[in-house]
Amino acid sequence: MIPPKQVQEILDAVRIEEVVEEFVTLRKRGVNLIGLCPFHGEKTPSFNVNPTRNIFKCFGCGKGGDAITFLKEHENLTYVDALRWLARKYSIDIQEVERTPEQVAELQLADSLYIVNDFALQHFQEQLFNTDEGKSVALAYFKQRGLREETIRTFGLGYAPEQRDLLVRRAKATGHSQDMIKKVGLSSQDGSRDFFRGRVMFAIHNLSGKVAAFAGRTMSSDKTIPKYINSPETEIYVKNKILYGAFQAKKAIRQLDECILVEGYMDVISLHQAGIENVVASSGTSLTEGQLQLIKRNTNNLKIIYDGDPAGVKAALRGLDLALEQDMNVKICLLPDGHDPDSYVRDLGGEEFVKFVSANAKDFILFKTHLLLAETQGDPIKKAGLVKDIVASIAKIPDPIKRSVYLKECSSLLDVSEQVLVSESNKLITGTIKKREEKTARQPGAASDSPDVSPDPNFPVAEPEFGAPVREKNMSRGDEFQERDIVRMLVQYGNQILEKENISVAEYILADIEDSLGNFDNPLYGKVASLCHDVLVKGGTFDQNYFLQHDAQEIRDLAVDLLSAPWELSPNWVERWNYPLQNQPMPDLNFDTDMKQALDRFKLRKIQKMCEINLGRIKTASDSGDVDTLIRYMKIQQKLTETRNEIAKRGGTVVMPK
Ligand code: GTP
Ligand code: MN
Repeated sequence: MIPPKQVQEILDAVRIEEVVEEFVTLRKRGVNLIGLCPFHGEKTPSFNVNPTRNIFKCFGCGKGGDAITFLKEHENLTYVDALRWLARKYSIDIQEVERTPEQVAELQLADSLYIVNDFALQHFQEQLFNTDEGKSVALAYFKQRGLREETIRTFGLGYAPEQRDLLVRRAKATGHSQDMIKKVGLSSQDGSRDFFRGRVMFAIHNLSGKVAAFAGRTMSSDKTIPKYINSPETEIYVKNKILYGAFQAKKAIRQLDECILVEGYMDVISLHQAGIENVVASSGTSLTEGQLQLIKRNTNNLKIIYDGDPAGVKAALRGLDLALEQDMNVKICLLPDGHDPDSYVRDLGGEEFVKFVSANAKDFILFKTHLLLAETQGDPIKKAGLVKDIVASIAKIPDPIKRSVYLKECSSLLDVSEQVLVSESNKLITGTIKKREEKTARQPGAASDSPDVSPDPNFPVAEPEFGAPVREKNMSRGDEFQERDIVRMLVQYGNQILEKENISVAEYILADIEDSLGNFDNPLYGKVASLCHDVLVKGGTFDQNYFLQHDAQEIRDLAVDLLSAPWELSPNWVERWNYPLQNQPMPDLNFDTDMKQALDRFKLRKIQKMCEINLGRIKTASDSGDVDTLIRYMKIQQKLTETRNEIAKRGGTVVMPK
């Protein structure tokens, strides 16, 4: 345990940006720093680090907290280990106080097991590289399989000669405990013989790079002996929580925001050597929840490469609903007959292999639908089963937008009405919720174990939520009314200070509409807004005289116009948004509310435009069956609609989709 005084010392020393920068590239934006969020896949940075408050926050996935939280989440550390990590970074010498005897025993056992495994790794490597037999038999075997020496070392490969007790004897001679050798599974139960004999060896690392176990492969093609044997499960080797290759792949998985999953040890090693480093193996079994969690901590995108026959693939697909429940994006890629990733990458080379995989990876749900559909061959009973199977998978997806996209796509693939699929899916979801509620009722306070999924209101996917663009008579000049309003605010009140925000009206407005500066319909209004923006960026200020005395005649005229004209607003606001209108000239004192409403009206217009453009994109993506793009635009649409409703609510009314 770390004494509280030292905990405080550590917390005082910590700079959030220094910790985060060990893992994420950050750049400055204002007083904060931004970067690509390491907790979810993104291409534009929404991950914010605030040095003043010593916290981070991702506006994409919502994760946030202090440096300890960051380390706990990112490095999977416990609270105490995060403190130790920070103490090391800031060179704080911690004197830990006593642990309980059980804790000490547990840690000592784990440490001893790692020490023994380390010894064994060195032993196997020495046998491989430094003995005649190792070189001529095992090293030759690895080389014949195309592995370079560097790769052999990276993955901790080795050799266990065909001898009765070589490792056991050497362990004894170097003072290692026989008991530990036995416990970690390197000797027979009576301790007299080596467990691995006459095999090439694969070290299995845990996420932090310690050797947790070994696998040994026979070099013989005799089918009567097992191809691989593995260390037994121990305190440090829990099979369903370890992914082979994860330690070597971790960095690449984060960088590429994608994890490739293969079946075999050799597949991982071969791909890694060919430059494809974001690869892990489930070691011949189907993915467990624990393994998925390991992946999900680093990326949400999983690409699975299968080399099996259709029956095998079908069985493997069953486990993948688990990934859908975790809201992961799962893609499947089949290799040509007779190839596994190892053989195929050696044929094609890394670059071509990557190309093949990107060209052939199919979305999991659509892949499954196609695969099962090919089997039903028009048999209605089989098809009914298939529909249920697919919908069951889709119902596991927590994200309603993704779900609706899949239901729509599958409706056309299966030739079943979307309505039927939606109601089927809702039935399943309602069932799950009921079950969960019953469970929670039985165990008060119990956390729910499945992610939140709620039924779809069957919102139509590709139908505009707005009607077609409406051109009313008073809107013939595009967004001019709203734009004029914004410019009026800038000219009239630009240098006034907003008390609550403690910035000027101009700063407030321009920060808010920065993204729309290039989108003004009226070039003059756009010019004035940009002009104001430039002045502020250069640290300057402006008042009414700035415009009234401007060099450009058109700006002087406009300023006079704006400052003397009666209050004006587009009449559409009442009809279209039921947005409150001030019918009387605004008292100057009211500029705060006045300005915010003007801003809202402006933004509503711009959002509506974006909605219309986006709906066009949704339609195109939907027509071409491009699920990824469709989901992306659907999300944008959702965001736009949310923002629009938020703004409209501020105006006193809720905008219902028409
Ligand atoms: P190579 O045959 O050397 O290319 O190895 P591989 O890693 O490609 O093996 P394969 O594709 O045959 O099997 C995939 C994975 O299943 C292996 O990496 C092992 O994790 C596991 N596996 C295969 N055979 C056995 C076995 O006999 N026993 C055990 N326990 N696991 C096995
Ligand atoms: Mn293989």
